[in-house]
Amino acid sequence: MAEKSRIGVTGLAVMGANLARNIASRGVAVAVHNRTAAKTEQFMAEHGGEGDFTGTESVEDFVNALERPRRIIVMVKAGKPVDAVIEELTPLLDQGDIIIDAGNSHFPDTVRRTEECAANGIRFMGVGVSGGEEGALLGPSIMPGGDPEAYAEVEEIFTAISAKVDDTPCCVHVGPGGAGHYVKMVHNGIEYADIQLIAEAYDLLGHVAGLDAPAIGKIFEEWNTGDLESFLIEITGKVLAKTDERTGRPLVDVIVDQAEQKGTGRWTSQDALDLGVPLTGITEAVFARTLSALRDERKAASTTLAGPAPAQKADEQLVEDIRQALYASKVVAYAQGFAQMRAASIENDWDLTLGDMATIWRGGCIIRAQFLNRIRDAYAEHPDLDNLLMVPYFTEAVANAQDAWRRVVTVATEQGVAIPAFSSSLSYYDGYRRERGPANLIQGLRDYFGAHTYRRIDAEGSFHTRWAQDGSEVRTD
Ligand code: 6PG
Repeated sequence: MAEKSRIGVTGLAVMGANLARNIASRGVAVAVHNRTAAKTEQFMAEHGGEGDFTGTESVEDFVNALERPRRIIVMVKAGKPVDAVIEELTPLLDQGDIIIDAGNSHFPDTVRRTEECAANGIRFMGVGVSGGEEGALLGPSIMPGGDPEAYAEVEEIFTAISAKVDDTPCCVHVGPGGAGHYVKMVHNGIEYADIQLIAEAYDLLGHVAGLDAPAIGKIFEEWNTGDLESFLIEITGKVLAKTDERTGRPLVDVIVDQAEQKGTGRWTSQDALDLGVPLTGITEAVFARTLSALRDERKAASTTLAGPAPAQKADEQLVEDIRQALYASKVVAYAQGFAQMRAASIENDWDLTLGDMATIWRGGCIIRAQFLNRIRDAYAEHPDLDNLLMVPYFTEAVANAQDAWRRVVTVATEQGVAIPAFSSSLSYYDGYRRERGPANLIQGLRDYFGAHTYRRIDAEGSFHTRWAQDGSEVRTD
């Protein structure tokens, strides 16, 4: 038993408890604490024998149990609880001690906390941790942000506990300040799009191809052996195969169709709007959740609003078309998510290495997928890539899928099945590859009603037409 613990974890709900257990399983002495002392006692009773744990009742005992510089992982609910823990710890800490927020905090809060802690000589790190409870215990993807010297104090522990792919830890210092929580936020935004696309594929396979949940589950299992191989596709097969013990029906058929959200996907879309990044797939996924929440309104509308008569087409081609549409739409979602991280990196001067995000997301996290190897390779060759769609591998993959993608959007539209992520991703693709689009008319209209000016394709400068006067054009800059 070490005299002092190398690291501490405060907040022993399942994620915090599992992270503490994972760290201790690597032979590291860990001090544990929870605001409710009974929780700490329960942890020690259940897991105290798994490693070199020091259970502490008070926050003072917790701090005193740690070697210098103190390394404290805070695993509490995002928001005010994090500030409350920082406020309680700060007077007990010394210069150079490190507070590590490993929850799903909103990155502007992390930027603020970094500054507030620095004013007290304390180093603050915002660390994204992905992989849920199992990941926390067995090997998450870890996205540390903050002072590189502070990271150096925990790098050995974090890389040891992280998931490994090809012996490479799914953990790398992301960047300063709020960068770690930012990329975790985008990870979750991509997760939202991934999940929405899977839900739309499931809906089409059910409502258009006329297949039941177990049959659809088998299709996802098959898809998981190809380009779509990923954790989310894998567990989709499992969720759809599950029989409800109470009714004997597929469990998914008795689950209420209202998706909830803790906020990380919404934050991603909000920042995309601020940055001017067309994050269509992820944002449609957020809106799809809010539309699903209007269950009572949808029930009323279902008997009022007209739609096409359902005409089921259960053919092999449709199933394959949906697989290809799912893959192409997934490429768009990741392309948009990575484009947002690039824009945020420039905006915040974080100097993110986007290939690193693909590398550490290959394992441990919720969006872990074979697909991320391709993204890592793309950024290795083109570190300053504008858009993943322009990488030959993805350019070709989407070109090969586009006919199927268009057939799926057509049949869904004809049969009145909502596919906001599939269709918005196709529109993004068509908009992105369009050399000259209809925004010229938007500029003309804006100039007509607001004199907001426009540029010309055949001359430098800004212009305004005197629509309400003599119709002449004047240069305005
Ligand atoms: C992860 C998960 C994790 C959590 C999501 C759920 O990366 O381990 O994404 O962060 O399960 O926050 O988010 P929603 O409740 O918003 O779907």
